[in-house]
Amino acid sequence: MLGLAGVIFFAAKIFKLQVEHNWIPIYLIGIAVLFYNTGFFLLHRLVRDHIEKRASARGLRIEANLQIGLDLLALVFLIHYSGGIENPFIFFFIFHMIMGSILLFGWDIWLQAIGSIFILMLLLGLSYFGIIPHHHIKGFAHPGLWTNIPYIWAGVVSFSATIFMAVYMTNSIAQGLRKRERELFETKTQLEKKSEELEKLNKELIRQQQLLIQSEKLASLGKLSAGVAHELNSPLTGILSFSHFIREACENNPQAQRDVEVVIHETERCKKIIKGLLDFARQSQPEKNKEDLLAVLSRTLSLIENHKDFKNIKIIRDFPESLPMIMFDRDQIQQVFMNLLVNSQEAMPEGGSIYISAKMSPDGNYIQIQFTDTGAGISEEHLNKIFDPFFTTKEKGTGLGLSIVLGIIENHDGKLEVKSSIGEGSTFIIKLLTNHSEE
Ligand SMILES: Nc1ncnc2c1ncn2[C@@H]1O[C@H](COP(=O)(O)OP(=O)(O)OP(=O)(O)O)[C@@H](O)[C@H]1O
Ligand SMILES: [Mg+2]
Repeated sequence: MLGLAGVIFFAAKIFKLQVEHNWIPIYLIGIAVLFYNTGFFLLHRLVRDHIEKRASARGLRIEANLQIGLDLLALVFLIHYSGGIENPFIFFFIFHMIMGSILLFGWDIWLQAIGSIFILMLLLGLSYFGIIPHHHIKGFAHPGLWTNIPYIWAGVVSFSATIFMAVYMTNSIAQGLRKRERELFETKTQLEKKSEELEKLNKELIRQQQLLIQSEKLASLGKLSAGVAHELNSPLTGILSFSHFIREACENNPQAQRDVEVVIHETERCKKIIKGLLDFARQSQPEKNKEDLLAVLSRTLSLIENHKDFKNIKIIRDFPESLPMIMFDRDQIQQVFMNLLVNSQEAMPEGGSIYISAKMSPDGNYIQIQFTDTGAGISEEHLNKIFDPFFTTKEKGTGLGLSIVLGIIENHDGKLEVKSSIGEGSTFIIKLLTNHSEE
């Protein structure tokens, strides 16, 4: 609007140009433009941003089309009141076309372009045939230009060509930019995803590190307890045998016999704990040989199957005919199987089933042995603790079973996984490398 005021000022005061009637219609158009643009501004800022929070895409499209359309119409009227075809500002249409090509999608801007060419031709036609008056600018262009047919046609053709070319070029540049923007957005999303993955990996790394610290702690705890356990073993054996002697000697004193019975029972419990500690400490030196895992598994199962505690438990075997021989310590791995089976049995005092499968991993890198029971399951909260030494939920447990299992599997460079849900049962999965080297 300032530009328009400037142009009018220069035209009227400096170059002494005169429109045929007066400048009033031009001022009025200027004011109208100011008005509806303020209206759009307020609509956008106050209504859209504050009340609707987010404008809909359709609403924005209508708004942009309306605003550009009204601007084009205003420009047509301005041109009409300031000389029509004589006015070189007729090419100002190009600004709206460029703006529209950037802001609008699809066919909208082409329709705006065709519309403005049509309305301009209408204007020139109507004034040529005298249906509307022509507003000549005195002292500027040749007075007869607006009735000069070749000039009018040349004007219309060059105008249309300029408009179409501007739309076409801007549109293709804008489309290219939009495409790149979209790609950039996709790259950004991918980058965010990657960084999330990285974060996950980092967490896993921290977890592994904690496990490592834990296993180092276990190793030193193992060494310490091995010493203590060894020292305690002989006195306990002594206590036990002398208690037996006392029990025999007190045949006539039932009260004393019952008391000694308690001593024997508690001493046996101590010996069991010590045996556990020694097993736990011994785990650090496996003696590995090339062995058949299935044979060890079958032997372990034959040991337990006839035991009274396993009477109500159904063992389901899912083994292949054979598996390749791999390096491991037979006794230790047997102990692992035994501990897991006993734990499963203890989780199903009323009976249930244990599903045992052994298979090669798809890539042939490891053998996977799975134990799934239908027992009580392990709570989320306990799941982190079951491998801690001395963690137990059983009245008579030592809580060393699974720490021994974990230690043995780690010494074989294997993996131990557990999944469990309360009331449904637990699954322990052991993965042992097939190409384990002899150490
Ligand atoms: N299959 C299972 N089902 C349900 N809970 C289990 C199972 N295996 C282990 N647990 C839980 O993990 C705890 C620790 O097991 P772990 O074998 O280390 O010790 P324990 O069985 O309690 O004692 P120990 O093995 O020395 O007799 C158990 O007390 C039990 O709560
Ligand atoms: Mg156990």
